Amino acid sequence: MSEEYVVRLKDLKKTFDGKDFVLNGVDLEIPKGSLTVLIGFSGTGKSVLLKHMLGLLKPTSGLAEVLGQDLSKISSDDMISFRQKFGVLFQNAALFDDMTTIENVCFPIREHRRDLKNAQIIRLAETRLKLVGLDVKDYGKLPSQLSGGMRKRVGLARAIALDPELLLYDEPTTGLDPIMTEMVDNLILSTHKHREGLTSIIVTHDLYAAFRLGDYVAMLNQGKILLFGTPNDFMKSENELIRKFVNKGVKKGESTSDN
Ligand SMILES: Nc1ncnc2c1ncn2[C@@H]1O[C@H](COP(=O)(O)OP(=O)(O)O)[C@@H](O)[C@H]1O
Ligand SMILES: [Mg+2]
Repeated sequence: MSEEYVVRLKDLKKTFDGKDFVLNGVDLEIPKGSLTVLIGFSGTGKSVLLKHMLGLLKPTSGLAEVLGQDLSKISSDDMISFRQKFGVLFQNAALFDDMTTIENVCFPIREHRRDLKNAQIIRLAETRLKLVGLDVKDYGKLPSQLSGGMRKRVGLARAIALDPELLLYDEPTTGLDPIMTEMVDNLILSTHKHREGLTSIIVTHDLYAAFRLGDYVAMLNQGKILLFGTPNDFMKSENELIRKFVNKGVKKGESTSDN
């Protein structure tokens, strides 16, 4: 194998009710070190696909291999160490409401790094918070005392706490205003570039971001990957559905300055 893939999905199928296939033969290979954006209409199964990569859902059939591990064969012990290798940031950041900024970031480190002393754990958490641009004065605040943008930063600091090889985002900018969206997009990009070899996968409906950020874009439609390619491949595609998507994305990009 000349290229190393962090995610390999082969003819992946998923049905919840035994008749309707949300995923109906997904083939997808994501190269190590890339930033890939997964797009598709709402309700097409993007989150379901992401959950298969995390081992949170089991395929009905087909192969889901992540970081060289066939997830259908993983033992629960291996699952614990597997989970340390990736970070996840969901739309709502999912912080612990009763924990301060610093404690939220310390949490996964305490769970997985039993070898570290408390002072080392705190120091590690602080380096992550610094990386995402949070000010020391906010380390002792509760999530309710932070703005939406700051909560995202804390969520991202927590996602990168254990220095993951794979970082997954599910709709990280949904519901944010355009300025905040740009801030979070830039944060995703700088986080990706900061760590050599990090693979990032972002699910988004924001096409402008997809074309700006992605090394690759994958479009999920009717249970399959309609196209996996560079943003340029998408621009050049003559597929009618892709053209529709691309035109929408470019229009939005052009109009961000006046809304
Ligand atoms: N745990 C589940 N049980 C049953 N159906 C589900 C479950 N999770 C997702 N679905 C269904 O799968 C489809 C795809 O959902 P989802 O992946 O959330 O879409 P997207 O993220 O692309 O908007 C939807 O029809 C949804 O209702
Ligand atoms: Mg979703």
